[in-house]
Amino acid sequence: MDTPIRIQFVCLGNICRSPLAEGLFREKVEAQGLADAFEIDSSGTGDWHVGSKADGRMRETARKHGLSIEDHRASQFQPADLEAYDHIFVMDKSNLNDVLYLDENDAYSGKVRLFRELDPKPGNYQVPDPYQGGKEGFEHVYQIVDRTAEVLLERLIDEYDLTPQAA
Ligand code: 4NP
Repeated sequence: MDTPIRIQFVCLGNICRSPLAEGLFREKVEAQGLADAFEIDSSGTGDWHVGSKADGRMRETARKHGLSIEDHRASQFQPADLEAYDHIFVMDKSNLNDVLYLDENDAYSGKVRLFRELDPKPGNYQVPDPYQGGKEGFEHVYQIVDRTAEVLLERLIDEYDLTPQAA
C-alpha cells in the first residue's frame, strides 16, 4: 500500500487511555507484519500534560502485560488532525463532543467514532477515565482497550483488504 492508513486515538489528557490504545494497537499491527500499512498516533483534547510521559500507573500496567509505552510524550489534538487522519477513535463521549466541536463545518464527523463501538462488550461505549481512581481502574482500562484494539485491527484488515505477513 502506498499511503499509510492514519489512525489517531484521543482521550482527555493523552497520558492514560489513548497512549495505551496507541501502544496496544501498534503492537498488534506489528505482530501481523503490517507496520508499513499504518501511521498511528494519539493525543488529548486538553493541553495540561503536553510533553509529559504517560501516567506512571498506566506505564506500570502496560509493562506488566509486556508492553512498553515509555517513549510516549503527550500532545494535544489539533483541528488540522481532522483532515490529516483517516480514523479518529475517541475514548469517551466528552472527547467525542470536544473533537466534533473543532469540526466547524461538520466536514469530518464520519471519521470520528467512539472506540468502544467496536468492543464486543461495549458497556456504555466509553473507556472509563482512570486518572482519579485506583490501580484496578488501570487494569480495567487495559482489558477494554486490548480486546477492542484487536477487533479494530480485524475490521481494518477487512475494510482495506490488507494481507497480514509473518512479522
Ligand atoms: P486520560 O486521563 O484522558 O486517559 O489521559 C486523564 C489524564 C489527566 C486528566 C484527566 C484524565 N487530568 O484531569 O489532568
